Amino acid sequence: MRSLIDILDLSTEEIDQLMDCAEDIIANPELYEDKCRGKKLATLFYEPSTRTRLSFEAAMLELGGKVLGFSDGQSSSAAKGESIADTARVVSAFADIMAIRHPKEGAPLVAAMNATIPVINAGDGGHNHPTQTLTDLLTIRREKGRTDSLTIGLCGDLKFGRTVHSLLQAMSRYDGIRFILISPEELQVPEHVKTDILETGNLSYMETDSLMQVIPDLDVLYMTRVQRERFISEADYVRLKDTYILTPDKLKIARRDLSILHPLPRVNEIPSLIDSDPRACYFKQVLYGKYIRMALILKLLEVD
Ligand code: NCD
Repeated sequence: MRSLIDILDLSTEEIDQLMDCAEDIIANPELYEDKCRGKKLATLFYEPSTRTRLSFEAAMLELGGKVLGFSDGQSSSAAKGESIADTARVVSAFADIMAIRHPKEGAPLVAAMNATIPVINAGDGGHNHPTQTLTDLLTIRREKGRTDSLTIGLCGDLKFGRTVHSLLQAMSRYDGIRFILISPEELQVPEHVKTDILETGNLSYMETDSLMQVIPDLDVLYMTRVQRERFISEADYVRLKDTYILTPDKLKIARRDLSILHPLPRVNEIPSLIDSDPRACYFKQVLYGKYIRMALILKLLEVD
């Protein structure tokens, strides 16, 4: 039995196979509509979510399966003091697979150690978010036609942004990747991410606080929200929240084939007038998230 807690739980071959499967689902959805008949997905969401939870649920429903779960930890027995370990054991009796999002780093791993069904990490604190990374990789592959030889700018909250950490991990295994990390000094990628991922892989990276200076070089621009809920001081959040706003004048000097990604939700960092720019991919990215989660559910349930 396999779980997905960290993106590196999957080899690059497995990630490529998941992307191939997602592409096949996009091309032939009718072939998949009964694949999970009789199976149940439980979604245990202890933190707010729109896309991730609903895309897991839509994925399971489109595979012919059923869904159950909760979207607020306060409405679960966590409010009575139940441990994640016990909840994972209990949910194993009701479902075939579970997706869990939790504010504490490591909670999905504890769930996986105690569950008897596959567990998917749907985001743990400021740590990791592997299914968003599968979504991002599929978006990059479909938009650029490749996942190697790319200059990728990651912009915004690189300290608390869990999607950034998982994406750096995953991309560090492809050849010819150059990362440009764009953030204010306070929101730079954590040291452990630098030493464990950026300084061991076969990639190159640089840090800057100027989006304007580097935007002409980028193949992919991955914008992120400043993660308000992870700040200790509201004043710091207010000071930093609007550091980067992607305006039309910045896009004027960007490549015509730039792809703009964002895991969403956005706040002010991408004004809605950018949505009609053909380089904006973030709403397509949402849709790809459903297809890659369908592929992942099939894999972890070992459905043919
Ligand atoms: C992200 C998350 O939850 O980490 N959202 C998502 O899952 N699409 C990004 C964010 O909340 O900023």
